[in-house]
Amino acid sequence: MTTRVLVTGATGQVGVDLMDVLGGDTAPGGDVTWQPDGRSVRPDEFEVVGVSHHELDVADPEAVRRVMAAVRPDVVVNLAAYTAVDRAESEPELCRAINATALTALSASCDDLAAHLITISTDYVFDGTKGSSYFEGDATNPLGVYGATKREGELLCRPRDTIVRTSWVMGSRGKNIAKLVQQRCRDNAPVRFVNDQVGSPTMAADLSRALVTLVREKPGGVVHLANSGVTSWFDLVRLIADTFEKPSDFVTAISTEELIPSPTARRPALSGLAMQRWSDLGFSDPPRWEDALVRLLRVN
Ligand SMILES: NC(=O)c1ccc[n+]([C@@H]2O[C@H](COP(=O)([O-])OP(=O)(O)OC[C@H]3O[C@@H](n4cnc5c(N)ncnc54)[C@H](OP(=O)(O)O)[C@@H]3O)[C@@H](O)[C@H]2O)c1
Repeated sequence: MTTRVLVTGATGQVGVDLMDVLGGDTAPGGDVTWQPDGRSVRPDEFEVVGVSHHELDVADPEAVRRVMAAVRPDVVVNLAAYTAVDRAESEPELCRAINATALTALSASCDDLAAHLITISTDYVFDGTKGSSYFEGDATNPLGVYGATKREGELLCRPRDTIVRTSWVMGSRGKNIAKLVQQRCRDNAPVRFVNDQVGSPTMAADLSRALVTLVREKPGGVVHLANSGVTSWFDLVRLIADTFEKPSDFVTAISTEELIPSPTARRPALSGLAMQRWSDLGFSDPPRWEDALVRLLRVN
C-alpha cells in the first residue's frame, strides 16, 4: 500500500532532505547504514507532494483547507516554520501565525481527512537551566518568542499527532553554522564561538531518515530527535576546524556575554535532547553527532 504524504516547507533545509529520503534516496551526508526501524524505503512506499511557502502559506487557514482537500494525504509532515530566532523578537505576531496558529488549521484538516500530523518543534521550548539533557516530559519554559510560539503550536496539536523536537539542525542545502565555519576555514578567517551553550547537533539527512520511521509508525505525543551526544558550539566548530587542519588558535572560546553584537533573543544554555521516547518505541539510536557532522562536511 502506498502512503500519501504532504510535506509543507518542502524547500527548506530539512524539507529538501526529507523529499530525497521519502523518494528512496539517501540525503547528502546521510548514514546509508542507519535504518532505525530496520527497513529501507520501498520504491512505491510513498507518494509525496512537497509544497513550498509560495505554494502553501500555512498561516492562511483557507489555503491549508484547499491544499489538504486537493492532496488528501494520509500523513502531513509540517516543516513550514518561522525560524529567524532573533528577528522573531520584533515580529512576534507573524512568528506566532506560522509556528502556532497554523497548527489549528492543519490539525483540523487532518481531522476531516483522518490524516496523521507530524510537526517539528525545538529545544528552545526549554530554558536550559535543568543542568542535564531534557526528557520529553520535562517542564517547558521558553526564553524567547520563537520557542514560545513553537510551544503554543505543540499545545494546538491533537494527542494523536507527533511532535518532533529537534535542535541545532545542519543540512547540505541550508544556511547553518557548519557551512559558515567551512567557508571561514577556506578563507583562513579565524572565528570566535561560545562554549557556554550546549546542545544536540542534528544533521538534516539523519533527521529525515528518522522522520520516515515516524511517518510509518505514527506515534502520538512528543518525540525528541537529534544525533546522539551533546556538545558546545565551540567544540563543534573546533571539530570542523580540525578537518581543515587549522591551528588551535583558529577558534577562540568566548562566553555568550562576550558576543558582539549581543543577540536579540535569549537562548537556553544547556538544551541537550534525551531521546527517551525514540528508544522506548524500539528504534535504533541515531548516529553520533561527530560522525554525522564529518559526513556532512564531506559533501558540503
Ligand atoms: N534549523 C534549526 O537549527 C532548527 C532547530 C530546531 C528546530 N527546527 C525546526 O525544524 C523545522 C525545519 O527547519 P529548517 O531548518 O528546515 O528551516 P528552514 O530552512 O528555515 O525551512 C523552513 C521552511 O518553511 C518555509 N516557510 C516559512 N514561512 C512559511 C509559511 N508561512 N508557510 C509555508 N512555509 C513557510 C520557508 O520558506 P521561505 O524560506 O521561502 O519563507 C522554508 O522553506 C522547523 O520547524 C524548525 O523550526 C530547526
